[in-house]
Amino acid sequence: MPSLLVTGGAGFIGSNFTHWVLDNTDATVTVLDAMTYAANEASLAQLPENRFQLVRGSVCDADLVDDLVSRHDAVVHFAAESHNDNSLAGPAPFIETNIVGTFTLLEAVRKHDVRLHHISTDEVYGDLGLNDPAKLTPQTRYNPSSPYSASKASSDLLVRAWVRSFGVQATISNCSNNYGPRQHVEKFIPRQITEILQGRRPKLYGDGLNVRDWIHVDDHNSAVWTILESGRIGETYLIGADGELSNKTVIQLILELMGQPTDAYDHVNDRPGHDLRYAIDATKLREELGWRPTYTNFRAGLAATIDWYRANESWWLPHKEATEAAYAAKGLCG
Ligand code: NAD
Ligand code: DAU
Repeated sequence: MPSLLVTGGAGFIGSNFTHWVLDNTDATVTVLDAMTYAANEASLAQLPENRFQLVRGSVCDADLVDDLVSRHDAVVHFAAESHNDNSLAGPAPFIETNIVGTFTLLEAVRKHDVRLHHISTDEVYGDLGLNDPAKLTPQTRYNPSSPYSASKASSDLLVRAWVRSFGVQATISNCSNNYGPRQHVEKFIPRQITEILQGRRPKLYGDGLNVRDWIHVDDHNSAVWTILESGRIGETYLIGADGELSNKTVIQLILELMGQPTDAYDHVNDRPGHDLRYAIDATKLREELGWRPTYTNFRAGLAATIDWYRANESWWLPHKEATEAAYAAKGLCG
């Protein structure tokens, strides 16, 4: 029974990954999470005690990380400050957690010769033009736009250097925008769903023509597991499911699925430096490792996500007011 250390496992993707691993494999999971504002302990409720434990602490705590790494077979590194708007308002924690935290983990896996999978983002490549036929590939030049994406690009480069210089057993994946249950209400889709549930109008940055390449979080999870099991050490795999949609289209679909007029949204100030479009070419992952997404109908996945937020108000409501107050302070409310 392999033992996994999952950093950031109380956040959106890390918690869904933890559930996925416990449901689909015989591995045990230790979550290391600093329990920042983005964490939600309820996301890890009722997991089997004989296969799961939560350790509260930071990936920047070298002694704690060294001890935990020494007692596990592999590390899957999700822990990060993850929100672009926050990185524009205050970049410091992004440098600390995303760069220094990844460095701390790399030193521990080097010392104990433990397998590492590093979770990263398509945003390290910067954006594509709206009408550009090109997609992002592992050969695309790094060109990050925001403090968040620059910090993730830095972490990727550290992993590559530790593989080449020290022979660390690591792989990297860069995934597009995830959606699904247990995503913090600061992010685009949950923010709009919960605004409507609270009787307010969704908020579209700028003209809303920016395109994101949506993938269901459980397709991300199955891809990560595939790479952990069969990925080649030192390689980078791009994860995406051909889900390109403009933000305006997504808001209109949410409104339609929630029984509202499809023009019942507001345009608000645009995000400074707002990336135009991401689009993933996942050929390497599909052809080399045989991975396929299962959530190929975005409308159905979005409807199930809306149902989840309707049914789980107690999960998100305690975070909603502070999130909207933070948006108001950033001028992203109207
Ligand atoms: P999230 O913000 O929901 O969760 C991040 C988690 O990391 C939280 O539980 C937080 O408490 C924890 N954390 C923060 N600082 C920490 C520290 N110093 N030590 C330990 N834990 C700490 O983020 P997410 O959306 O689940 O993203 C997870 C990972 O996936 C990130 O590395 C992100 O860059 C990457 N990613 C996200 C997406 C997406 O669409 N959300 C897409 C591609 C890649
Ligand atoms: O591409 C992968 C990245 O996707 C991850 O690395 C990040 O961790 C994750 O947060 C996400 O980044 P984005 O900036 O694309 O996600 P966000 O949910 O913040 O916004 C999605 C799009 O929606 C973006 O174009 C901005 C827009 N937006 C966002 C919010 C919160 C709005 O129009 N209105 C909003 O209220």
